[in-house]
Amino acid sequence: MPPERYALPVRYDSNGDPIIRMRGITKTFRSAAGEATVLKGVDVDILPGQFVSVVGRSGSGKSTLVNMITGIDRPTSGSVEIGGQNILHMPESDMAVWRGRHLGIVFQFFQLLPMLTLIENVMLPMDFCNMYPPAMREERALGLLTRVGLDDFAYKLPGAVAGGQQQSAAVARALANDPPILIADEPTGNLDSVTAEQVMEIFEELAALGKTILFVTHDRTLALRTNRRLLISDGELVNETLVAAFPDASHSLLLRLSKGAQPLDLPPGADLPPGSSAHIYLVEAGWLEVGSGPQPVVIAAGDGLDAPAVSGAVRAGDEGAKLLSLPADLVEPLLPAEPVFAEAGRSLRWFRLGRRQG
Ligand SMILES: Nc1ncnc2c1ncn2[C@@H]1O[C@H](COP(=O)(O)OP(=O)(O)O)[C@@H](O)[C@H]1O
Ligand SMILES: [Mg+2]
Repeated sequence: MPPERYALPVRYDSNGDPIIRMRGITKTFRSAAGEATVLKGVDVDILPGQFVSVVGRSGSGKSTLVNMITGIDRPTSGSVEIGGQNILHMPESDMAVWRGRHLGIVFQFFQLLPMLTLIENVMLPMDFCNMYPPAMREERALGLLTRVGLDDFAYKLPGAVAGGQQQSAAVARALANDPPILIADEPTGNLDSVTAEQVMEIFEELAALGKTILFVTHDRTLALRTNRRLLISDGELVNETLVAAFPDASHSLLLRLSKGAQPLDLPPGADLPPGSSAHIYLVEAGWLEVGSGPQPVVIAAGDGLDAPAVSGAVRAGDEGAKLLSLPADLVEPLLPAEPVFAEAGRSLRWFRLGRRQG
């Protein structure tokens, strides 16, 4: 085989493994003022092609978390694997080129080089990582700028275009090496709502094309347009089923619920054990069936069930059911006023939660 002169875009086999796997991530910053632990044991798997938002209040640890993935910062403990490779074992000298080929990174404040035109900014990662033959790079960069609506501005300096255009150029730069993963830390945080929408639409197109995207935002409506929401509260990840089920709950309440949740895994067909009025169930995966006729009521993933005194009436479906048992006193105020189904005699209430409610 002839030697390869220019690197080709990175591709991962989609064999079902996570493309990003983080385990036990902690981060403690030490300063003259003392120590602050801002990530307290985060585990997360992201599958190829997922469009994931990272939400949470300012200071909750969102940037610190994504900086662990980009290698901009390192965890105090824990592991980060990208495409099966432990990036924490990679020498610093290899990291920059690895990052340039695997990740496209978009920042809140664009970070374009001010002395280079937009097209030169977009060509830079190709030059740095020696991707694509040099004679192709300008044409490729122009194609990317055209894709984000900037063909007429390609030869302008960043300072000569609007903020939204600078951010679109930064997205084009992130795509320069056609990386499988895009990481964007509040990419719309410094844009007005019209330009933020344009940038969001570019990310949605890229998600539809199969890019894996991690999108930090504190805009709720933008977050709701992604496939998954990771909520960080005070350095901890809140259980995602809870985030989806109770979109209006405060982050601190969701974190309390997440910590108070007891998992309950039922094998296929198993009866739900007699509960107590102190707990409400949330179905995380699989489903439950109520009633024994040919058409049982099906309580699906994402639904809630209050079944304090039932015995033998509720069982796991054919795939089993993964439930979370939650403290009723915390959950009751979050439940919709009307259950979908209630059986007075057995005092069983079934709730549809999350966005599906409306
Ligand atoms: N380099 C640093 N040194 C000390 N503290 C830091 C550093 N970076 C972030 N922090 C602190 O960590 C916490 C989380 O910050 P960050 O991840 O930037 O939050 P977010 O992106 O969610 O707004 C904040 O309290 C912040 O002050
Ligand atoms: Mg941040």
